[in-house]
Amino acid sequence: MAGAFRVALTRDFLTADGRIGWGEIGLDALTSTTGVSWEFLTSETTELPPSVGMDYDALIVLSPTVSATTLSAADRLKVVARFGVGYDNIDVAACTTAGVLLTITPDGVRRPVAVAAVSMMLALTHRIRNKDLLVRNGRWHDKLDYMGTSPTGRALGLLGWGNIGREITTLCAPLGMRQLATDPYADPTTAAAAAVQLCSIDRLFAESDIIIVTCALTPETHHLVNADRLAAMKRSAFLVNVARGPIVDEEALTAVLANRHIAGAALDVFESEPPDPNHPLLGLDNVLLAPHAIAWTDQLAFGNGSSAIRAVLDVATGVVPAYPVNPGALRHPKLSMLKARSANEHHQS
Ligand SMILES: NC(=O)c1ccc[n+]([C@@H]2O[C@H](COP(=O)([O-])OP(=O)(O)OC[C@H]3O[C@@H](n4cnc5c(N)ncnc54)[C@H](O)[C@@H]3O)[C@@H](O)[C@H]2O)c1
Repeated sequence: MAGAFRVALTRDFLTADGRIGWGEIGLDALTSTTGVSWEFLTSETTELPPSVGMDYDALIVLSPTVSATTLSAADRLKVVARFGVGYDNIDVAACTTAGVLLTITPDGVRRPVAVAAVSMMLALTHRIRNKDLLVRNGRWHDKLDYMGTSPTGRALGLLGWGNIGREITTLCAPLGMRQLATDPYADPTTAAAAAVQLCSIDRLFAESDIIIVTCALTPETHHLVNADRLAAMKRSAFLVNVARGPIVDEEALTAVLANRHIAGAALDVFESEPPDPNHPLLGLDNVLLAPHAIAWTDQLAFGNGSSAIRAVLDVATGVVPAYPVNPGALRHPKLSMLKARSANEHHQS
């Protein structure tokens, strides 16, 4: 298509036999937009080559690195839309310098990750893994040894009250849980309106029956869940981590689980992924584990894909996308044609 706005998706969206591994990701919106052409990159590389910056107006990126070298000749490239909310694989400063807007998809992950966290919480407190094994292993009559913990009336502690933490609050409200949250940047008025009590981290660890880790990983939150905080938890309490592995000191967590100082944990994320197959956590019966994919559902795939594609089409039609990571890039002459969306066009963040 001559003069088209050219979009490429990274090759790792495709399986070895050429299917889209994530299933339906909303590509129809690209296909049906006049003046836009799209394709998958033909080769799979861990770092995207500089040619992508000359050949395409937009990239939709899964896992390859977009480095300063990738962007060294980005005369054409205007937007990198990351499928998901993590962007450790993208050099943000290099994007800004090159006049490339980086966008993420918080609207795509919000509900699916929150539902996944609540699923982990309920599976853990209802001891679903233990009870499944009782049936399989002919231990039906041992069931009194695996009494569960009902969420109703219990204290839920959210460590981080952002996009996903707030959605967990909404999902858990009908369960009748008392909700506490620790987040130095949360808005007290919004929290009060959601019947969430903002509190210190010490109070959160001492009072909560279930703690869900949903904060960002930053230098400040690395090992925020450490041996002292784990020791302050109730013996009956549970910990769920769907955020990032290094927020929790895994060695300290393994110790409190092994000596039954807390009741159990559910982990979708690990300090090192995948974890060492000999890691002692893998041998404990009070732990539920998932391969950083507990939230991977049809709705996550469609939501992330649709959000990333919307960002690309916004740029194609001259509008600033809803979720830019580096708005400073908008000052670059290459992006000067983008107009702020009107107030009623704003997506809810
Ligand atoms: N498991 C998965 O598949 C998956 C998917 C998406 C996101 N995540 C992770 O989930 C987490 C939450 O994502 P989100 O979209 O809600 O991000 P977000 O940026 O909207 O929310 C993160 C919150 O952490 C808070 N925070 C920062 N420092 C803190 C501190 N010291 N103590 C407590 N809170 C602090 C921030 O104020 C913010 O409100 C992130 O770590 C993200 O990487 C995991």
